[in-house]
Amino acid sequence: MSMFKVWLSSVQSVAEQCVQSVAKQFQRVWLAVFKVWLCCVQSVAMLCSNVAGQCSSVAKQCSSVAKQCSSVAKQCSSVAKQCSSVAKQCSSVAKQCSSVAKQCSVVQVWLSSVQCSSVAKQCSVFNVQVQVWLSSVQVQVWLSSVQVCSSVAKQCSVFKLFSVQVWLSSVQCSSVAKQCSSVAKQCSVFKCGSDQHKLASVPVYFSEHVEEVKHQYLETFDPRHYHRTFYSYLDEEVKFFLRRYHEIFTNDPLLSARCRSRRRVLEFGCGPVPVYAASAAFFSESITMAEIIPANRSEIESWMDCRPEALDWSPFFSYLASLGDGRKEEEITERLREVFQVVIPCDGTLEEPLAPIRQRYDVIMTTLCLEFATTTKDDYRTMLGRVVNLLRPGGVLLMAGALGNTSYSVGSTRYPSVSLQKEDLEEAVAAVGLRVASMATLERLTSSKEKPADHRGVFFVAAEKQGEPGV
Ligand SMILES: C[S@@+](CC[C@H](N)C(=O)[O-])C[C@H]1O[C@@H](n2cnc3c(N)ncnc32)[C@H](O)[C@@H]1O
Repeated sequence: MSMFKVWLSSVQSVAEQCVQSVAKQFQRVWLAVFKVWLCCVQSVAMLCSNVAGQCSSVAKQCSSVAKQCSSVAKQCSSVAKQCSSVAKQCSSVAKQCSSVAKQCSVVQVWLSSVQCSSVAKQCSVFNVQVQVWLSSVQVQVWLSSVQVCSSVAKQCSVFKLFSVQVWLSSVQCSSVAKQCSSVAKQCSVFKCGSDQHKLASVPVYFSEHVEEVKHQYLETFDPRHYHRTFYSYLDEEVKFFLRRYHEIFTNDPLLSARCRSRRRVLEFGCGPVPVYAASAAFFSESITMAEIIPANRSEIESWMDCRPEALDWSPFFSYLASLGDGRKEEEITERLREVFQVVIPCDGTLEEPLAPIRQRYDVIMTTLCLEFATTTKDDYRTMLGRVVNLLRPGGVLLMAGALGNTSYSVGSTRYPSVSLQKEDLEEAVAAVGLRVASMATLERLTSSKEKPADHRGVFFVAAEKQGEPGV
């Protein structure tokens, strides 16, 4: 028992020792582990603090980069603004260039017209010389034939006086007399023929008056004053023109049978007036207006562009609408603006009145123009011929104008004109190679107070240019 007790206590002490040593070792291991963990934690902490330091420096860099970006963005936006202002300046410069280009083209046209007019003047001088020469040759021929006659007659009389054989002399005299009379007849036929030739001919060149008239128009014509004087209300004569234009474009077989591709319309010498062209608005898909005075062309453009300052033509369009097939005034004006091509310069004194444009048209309208651009019948015929040259063969001229007019006034300015009778018109139209399809006249229905002009009436003629079939 005591042995067991001793063993037990020794076992106990051994166990205690073991426990103690295990505990010590465990303590040591745990301490070592703790140290290692502490070390790790410390090194992680250091790492974290390092990273934190780096992060803060990166953050600092980011913020400085952000600042730089924002300043670059500001610079970009200011550059963009500068670019847009430069672009605006460029576009305004481009506009100025285009307007200068337009002016240049107008100047070119003007220059070419000035050159043409000087060439025309030289030609006209040459023509006068040629005509003088020709007439002197004709007179010489005529004189020499008269001289021959008279010398033959003298010889006859001498022969008659001194002939012994009366019967012979009388026979011979009678035969000579016959010859004389036949020569005389031939002379008179020749004279008559040359007069007729003069009547039917179209002079190639103008007198100097056309240039004077043209310059008077270019220097003094005021479209607004003209509108106030002649178009402030709708008178019976303008109604007559509008009715005839309307009828011919809508019902007359002369035009209504034409195919669409042969419906190019030109209005020559339109002035500031868009209303006559409106009668062709549903007939054609292409209407060109031509006018010599820049201010008149601007008024047409103003009206076509619906500008607020444009002249008021509404009473005339409304009358046109009242003639038609239920179309309203607005439909007519809208359609006219749709088919309207352009308003170009023209000059009836030029050989090519639309130079440099050389287009030929199917229909030409002209109202109160040619008799007001000329002062003699010869000049009227020449200008008519030049306008008719702008028609293709088989094309149609529609011409409205004044009869027996010598002048009209706008304010204190008087414009001359050639006084035409119906016969002059028929002769001129035939002389330039037109076949009259219809002609109508109207006695004057306005007082000279209403219209400061001295016309006795007005006319409207529709005529076809001889040549190919018209349709
Ligand atoms: C009495 S106004 C007629 C205007 C318009 N057609 C009308 O019906 O009221 C005469 C027109 O003839 C034009 N004119 C004058 N001389 C011209 C010429 N040499 N060539 C072309 N037109 C001319 C004028 O510019 C003006 O427009």
